[in-house]
Amino acid sequence: MLLTQAVYFSTPRNPRGGDLGDILAISRRNNAALGVTGALVLDDIFYFQLLEGPRNVLSHVIGTIQQDTRHLNFTLALFRDIEARAFTDWTMAGMRFLPGSGGLTGGRDPLALSGRDLHDLICRAMTRDDLRKDAEPVM
Ligand SMILES: Cc1cc2nc3c(=O)[nH]c(=O)nc-3n(C[C@H](O)[C@H](O)[C@H](O)COP(=O)(O)O)c2cc1C
Repeated sequence: MLLTQAVYFSTPRNPRGGDLGDILAISRRNNAALGVTGALVLDDIFYFQLLEGPRNVLSHVIGTIQQDTRHLNFTLALFRDIEARAFTDWTMAGMRFLPGSGGLTGGRDPLALSGRDLHDLICRAMTRDDLRKDAEPVM
């Protein structure tokens, strides 16, 4: 089946990320049923989310997420066909950067980074042990 991958970023309405647990719970339930996988990262300023799944499903889910009032300034950075998923095991992995850590982009404006760069940073944050001092998984 043709698979599509999307990356976006946005700003949480609740800057302390108080909605993250609720969002992950609903995402894991819905995404398991829809065949969607991915990762949601929160730092001091942004949500970054990577989503993978069938193109029509992903398009619909992204439309729903975009309208969610728990975040603002939704900016789609990447929407592309892929051969295989990056996150086979995760209906929605969660990662929170620790306050003052510099975050996913090391303080760079995500508008200045390509969608591919943001994709790579999210994958690195989820897999690389050397970032674990700056970030913690959210179960
Ligand atoms: C940052 C963020 C990421 C989200 N990610 C997902 C997701 O991956 N999958 C999903 O179904 N809903 C996600 N949501 C929640 C949706 O916006 C929406 O609340 C949910 O899909 C509604 O599900 P329901 O119709 O079962 O109540 C996200 C919301 C936010 C703010």
